Amino acid sequence: MKSTIVIGLQWGDEGKGKIVDYLSKTHKIIIRCAGGNNAGHTIKIRNKKYVLSLLPSGILQKNTVCILGAGMVIDYRVFHEEYLEISKKVKSTDIKISHLAHLLMPYHIEIESKKANIIGTTKKGIGPAYEDKIARRGVRVCDLFDFKSLKEKITSNVMYWNFLLQKENIETYIDSILEDLMVFYENYEKMFVNTNHYLSTIKPKKVLLEGAQGSLLDIDYGTYPYVTSSNTTAAGCCQGSGVPITSVKNIIGIFKAYTTRVGNGNFTTEINDDVSSVIREEGGEYGSITGRPRRIGWLDLPALKYAIQINGVTELAITKLDVLSCLEDIYICKEYNEFDNKPIYEKVDSWNGCDFKFKNYKELPDSVKNYIKQIEEYVKCPVKYIGTGPNRNELIVVKNKETK
Ligand code: IMP
Repeated sequence: MKSTIVIGLQWGDEGKGKIVDYLSKTHKIIIRCAGGNNAGHTIKIRNKKYVLSLLPSGILQKNTVCILGAGMVIDYRVFHEEYLEISKKVKSTDIKISHLAHLLMPYHIEIESKKANIIGTTKKGIGPAYEDKIARRGVRVCDLFDFKSLKEKITSNVMYWNFLLQKENIETYIDSILEDLMVFYENYEKMFVNTNHYLSTIKPKKVLLEGAQGSLLDIDYGTYPYVTSSNTTAAGCCQGSGVPITSVKNIIGIFKAYTTRVGNGNFTTEINDDVSSVIREEGGEYGSITGRPRRIGWLDLPALKYAIQINGVTELAITKLDVLSCLEDIYICKEYNEFDNKPIYEKVDSWNGCDFKFKNYKELPDSVKNYIKQIEEYVKCPVKYIGTGPNRNELIVVKNKETK
């Protein structure tokens, strides 16, 4: 088996969906490894926008097998809606759900809504679902096969959380959850799969592992505690998919030409003047799932280098360079002040007004090439993919050594 990992190198929303969509032309099996419907992967095909939150972004290519991996927390009601929606748009789909994936319950969302949201989460119940998983009381897809023990598990979980839920009629509440779960089971049982067994029996064996969120939101290596509850790194992709580490041949790290973040927490290169609104509007920087305005900053090279190192990235994809065409002045951060950790910026040559209708690397303006070169030299990793716009076909694949 040969596998390729696609991960985000910032705080999410780097444009992974588009790169996964492109790579799904040559990878038959695509596995989403972690997270849940806190993610929103957007792909634009002929100006039509597809937003996927649980389904792998390979679903839009023909003849792919898309697996929701063991590391995910799946809100079964959201899955049902997303499946119905995608079935209207995509003629035939082959979707599988790992029997080890955890189910995100309605009470996880309620629990989250009762807690103070200091982190600025997406409020989709992701944290409480992973809390149950780590506390070893989570409900997994495989639990749906045994109704009696499923009922016991859910009853004990609801009773445990009732100090927050404050349900008066627990039984009715549990019964309604069980009823919905049984409908989910009946509708989708044919999709449930033992991923490891499945992968060991099929050919061809080119597998694409789709990460969610970004490396700086990783529970261990991100800007803790302002992070998500899963491992968003390359290692997390292996863990969450069940694909062996030794099969990984490529780790593709995606980053934007600038930086964005939603939710609270440290953001060293955040822009605090009007330029942030200009970039936000030009780049459509609003959460694809929550609609929240994203915080905007300049490209932070020390943070990018850190993300590349912890993931062992082998190739880079830069997205949204076209958005910066709206600016006369562009800055990049290469170091922080040693005393107060404030960013030190360098001004780069801009590509103001450039329409970005380029088809290959050679056509790019020198200022764009220089920007890419500075990044490559700093982080010591080659840029292989250059996003030139939101549409599927607006992507330059750089041939070997072309950027040198
Ligand atoms: P949670 O994942 O909903 O628990 O949110 C934890 C943090 O991760 C918050 O700052 C969210 O805004 C952020 N987050 C979670 N998913 C995404 C994503 O897909 N893109 C960007 N930020 C995300």
